[in-house]
Amino acid sequence: MSSNALHVPVMLQRCLDMLAPALAQPGAVVVDCTLGLGGHSEALLRDFPEARLIALDRDPSALRLAGERLAPYGDRATLVHAVYDELPEVLDRLGVPRVQGILFDLGVSSMQLDEAERGFAYAQDAPLDMRMDQTTGVSAAEVLNTYPPGDLVRILRTYGEEKFAKKIVDAVVRERAKEPFTTSARLVELIREALPQAAKRTGGNPAKRTFQALRIEVNGELAVLERAIPAAVRALAVGGRIAVLSYHSLEDRLVKQVLAAGASHTAPPGLPVIPSSTSPG
Ligand SMILES: C[S@@+](CC[C@H](N)C(=O)[O-])C[C@H]1O[C@@H](n2cnc3c(N)ncnc32)[C@H](O)[C@@H]1O
Repeated sequence: MSSNALHVPVMLQRCLDMLAPALAQPGAVVVDCTLGLGGHSEALLRDFPEARLIALDRDPSALRLAGERLAPYGDRATLVHAVYDELPEVLDRLGVPRVQGILFDLGVSSMQLDEAERGFAYAQDAPLDMRMDQTTGVSAAEVLNTYPPGDLVRILRTYGEEKFAKKIVDAVVRERAKEPFTTSARLVELIREALPQAAKRTGGNPAKRTFQALRIEVNGELAVLERAIPAAVRALAVGGRIAVLSYHSLEDRLVKQVLAAGASHTAPPGLPVIPSSTSPG
């Protein structure tokens, strides 16, 4: 299957429209921090023929597939294997001090979800991996089998907003003492059994929140994002624009806090004139 057929870019036209005022100029540089299968990147290269694209992904297979897709654009596209909080170092290495546009399309790609062996999906039995970059880091199975119970409860509560975190972790700890977890089906079954009947009637698959929590922990997603958004804002040239697509409340809150702080002045309330030193940079 071609990479085009695998993924329809989310809110594509809206992203292009939002970035357009900054990109329609010779020499503009746009960074796609989450290349994925290259849907957004391809549209940026197509719609802004004078712009250069730098695109990052931590997943080597995304870089391979998107690389084939973007090959026709030659050296207008530079693809880099990096975690997006490494953006300042990447720009440094490429000798690019400031950029005009930055896009983040957060989370996992449809390809990562569809490839059962990556272990992101709870709907099919697969190894509990969930690393976006399988060349480094610890897998979801290792987290589940080795973390102290208190840490697991905190992870499920904070990253999964799971009300029954304690019940689920009690069951995990009991089960892992008998035999370590290796695949997803056993975990899904255990969550189903641990939750009270009433909780199972609403909110879709009862394993959804636990899987989200494990995925966020395995990839350090929130910590990385918390560093990456301010770094991205600092990398923008005057008049530059940033667009972020986020899909759950934790990411959403974090992104809005950072962008709101950057968009407001720090002058005390009530001043008749806002000193320029307190204006957003
Ligand atoms: C939702 S997909 C992007 C889809 C893409 N916009 C497209 O049109 O095909 C998110 C991608 O970002 C990558 N990713 C997620 N977190 C990352 C991070 N911290 N650093 C680098 N890449 C990351 C994932 O590996 C995945 O390929």
